[in-house]
Amino acid sequence: MAATRTFSIIKPDATRRNLTGAVTKMLEDAGLRVVASKRIQMTREQAEGFYEVHKERPFYGELCDFMTSGPVVVQVLEGEDAVKRNRDVMGATNPSDAADGTIRKSFAESIEANSVHGSDSDENAAKEIAFFFTDDEIVG
Ligand code: CMP
Repeated sequence: MAATRTFSIIKPDATRRNLTGAVTKMLEDAGLRVVASKRIQMTREQAEGFYEVHKERPFYGELCDFMTSGPVVVQVLEGEDAVKRNRDVMGATNPSDAADGTIRKSFAESIEANSVHGSDSDENAAKEIAFFFTDDEIVG
């Protein structure tokens, strides 16, 4: 199977605890290659746009507050079946449901401060990558 790409965010709870390297190692150990990466302070506008799909959800405002509360690391990951591979290593959204050995089980503090985001489909991965990266920033 050919390599595909997905989009990942290392969230403020993880950067605050200096876990960027530990999270990235788990991604790499899962067979994913970081082909683009940058540490940014997300603006309110970026957070609201990125999570627009959740606009009507009761947690939308707090989610945008949290995602702008500190630096994040946005990444493009490449590997065989990258979306699924990444979701498997991330674990369930709520860390109390996440399996042993997953990033969220290991590091997440709560359903909101859950250390990582990962695209849920190839289609959304392409959109999310384009939201934060230009083609020339991705070096495979
Ligand atoms: P993420 O993959 O970044 O996509 C949306 C985020 O909303 C999700 O991870 C969670 O961190 C966050 N979130 C906060 N509260 C909830 C909730 N009650 N249900 C689902 N997601 C939530």
